[in-house]
Amino acid sequence: MQPSSETQQRERIPVEIFPDADAAAASVAREIAALIRERDAQGRPTVLGLATGSTPVRLYRQLIRLHREEGLSFKRVVTFNLDEYHGLPPTHPESYRCFMQEQFFNHIDLPPANVHVPDGLVPRTEVFASCRAYEDAIRAAGGIDFQVLGIGRTGHIGFNEPGSTRDSRTRLVTLDALTRRDAARDFLGEANVPRYAITMGVGTILEARRIVLMAWGEAKAGVIAQAVEGVPAPQLPASLLQGHGAVRFVVDRTAAAELTRFKHPWLVGPVDWQPAVTRQAVVWLASTVKKPVLKLLDEDFSEHGMADLLTERGPAYGLNIRVFNELQHTITGWPGGKPGADDTHRPERAAPFPKRVLVFSPEPSDDILGMGGTLRRLADQGHEVTVAYLTSGNLAVPDEEALMAADLVADLAGTARDPAVGLADNVRRQLQAKPAFGQDSAEVRRFKGLIRRSEARAALRHSKLGAEHTRFLDLPFYETGRYRQFHPAEADRAAVARLLEEVRPHQIFATGNLDDPSSLAAVCWDLVRQAYRSCRAAPWAADCRGWLYRSPTRPWNPAEIDMAVPLSPTELALKIQAIYQHKSQRSQSPLADATLHEAWQQAEASNRATARAYDALGLAEYAAIEAFQRWPA
Ligand code: F6R
Repeated sequence: MQPSSETQQRERIPVEIFPDADAAAASVAREIAALIRERDAQGRPTVLGLATGSTPVRLYRQLIRLHREEGLSFKRVVTFNLDEYHGLPPTHPESYRCFMQEQFFNHIDLPPANVHVPDGLVPRTEVFASCRAYEDAIRAAGGIDFQVLGIGRTGHIGFNEPGSTRDSRTRLVTLDALTRRDAARDFLGEANVPRYAITMGVGTILEARRIVLMAWGEAKAGVIAQAVEGVPAPQLPASLLQGHGAVRFVVDRTAAAELTRFKHPWLVGPVDWQPAVTRQAVVWLASTVKKPVLKLLDEDFSEHGMADLLTERGPAYGLNIRVFNELQHTITGWPGGKPGADDTHRPERAAPFPKRVLVFSPEPSDDILGMGGTLRRLADQGHEVTVAYLTSGNLAVPDEEALMAADLVADLAGTARDPAVGLADNVRRQLQAKPAFGQDSAEVRRFKGLIRRSEARAALRHSKLGAEHTRFLDLPFYETGRYRQFHPAEADRAAVARLLEEVRPHQIFATGNLDDPSSLAAVCWDLVRQAYRSCRAAPWAADCRGWLYRSPTRPWNPAEIDMAVPLSPTELALKIQAIYQHKSQRSQSPLADATLHEAWQQAEASNRATARAYDALGLAEYAAIEAFQRWPA
């Protein structure tokens, strides 16, 4: 899509938007390949600045493919990585050196002597000299031709956290609390995440001749919009890229969602006032002028750049009523449809009743966090609910929890001949001998998975759903994978499709559609989508409706909601109790701070925020709301 000139004025960094991350990564890979070939032809080396993390993995896969299939050679390429954790040896599985070897360097013909990654083991007293030597090496190589960047949720580039200035150079930095929290899963617990890192500076990055920053998934959307449209400031280091002569952001559609051209398109050009964008505009106007929808005046519209909306769909009086009714009709206490009622304006159809409802939860606890109140209602209202846990979730169980459970089993039985005690003893021995960041055996993972099973059952009991309503698929891709490095296969898709064929649902609830494609939720979402597609010809699929729920990290705006299920204060309290049952998932960090740390806090805040937003629009004053979007399966 060609951005309008208003968009170009507002966006201070060119943004290229692709339908998905794979298409975007393929395009950047082709650009890098063309640069390498051009410089090879001139007999000159190509100097690449490289990043780690989930974002560039797809790019590296594409470059490896070009090497294997199209003879792209890296013999004359020189690389400099942005950063490295301080204190981690290069052999550590979470070190960036190890990441680069596994994800890229081991698969191409790049000479090891051409690789540069900051030394994470350099003693504190020598860090300064080592950082200076890194900068000297970049200069000696002729400077960076092409810099690849990702972006953190703090707006960091490399590990230049908020506060990093435009002229900062390669140095030792302290990691931001949010960054450490984001890395907690990879390190199997926040307490294990290093506190310091060595990073190229913003100034070092800005010297690169060409810069491409990539981002996927909705978690990055806010920070992308701020970096592109906001005033450049050290509080958001990526915004300091503004003004570089050859910088570009390459993003997927979900990471672009907060740019003004999508979020408030009426501010940057003419709009085709279809119902969805009309609703989006009216909701935005109401929250901007802080009035309920039914009190918006013609002047409010014209003073906020929406005169054409009035001309096409106005006056305000009728427009307000139409949008108010649309919003009102999203609210229902009957998420499975109200039997026997007129359903013309209800989000879900009345018949059939009861419905067979299939809820997909990527890991145990995603179901309760995203739709615990609705699950309870569906059960209360007599529907046949099945909750399918796609993965065992064992990677997220801290060792301490597993040790506690193993102790319990061993104490209980008291006879070493009991096979359960044998398992518990093995688990205890293995965990006690486990080195820092060591990987768990299949036996330990099975044990940890069982802990999550019992938590999931306990949480569902709180939602009035018995064990007969649960299915634990333990999909194989998870059992053999690591976070950010999952490779689902046909067996996984087939298992999901088999369940669909068995349940023949009238309603499917799923999540993960807006997440970073390498996240567990997105991998699971993709499996559900593909499995559903493979069943589309089945007779039950003709009468099946899909609903999307979301993790509680960002509440939906009312304009994005198709079904809003209100929760009373008691229902909200019950939901929180159900979340509590996932004991192994409570924060392990002793630093209780003021931020929303625990999952239950995030879920509560998100459900309350949605209710407040409905209230502010003049709809109804509920304690909390769980929100859903229709999935146009
Ligand atoms: C990594 C790096 C970081 C990441 C950023 C995003 O070398 O420099 O700035 O690019 O933290 O990480 P992901 O891609 O994992 O979301």
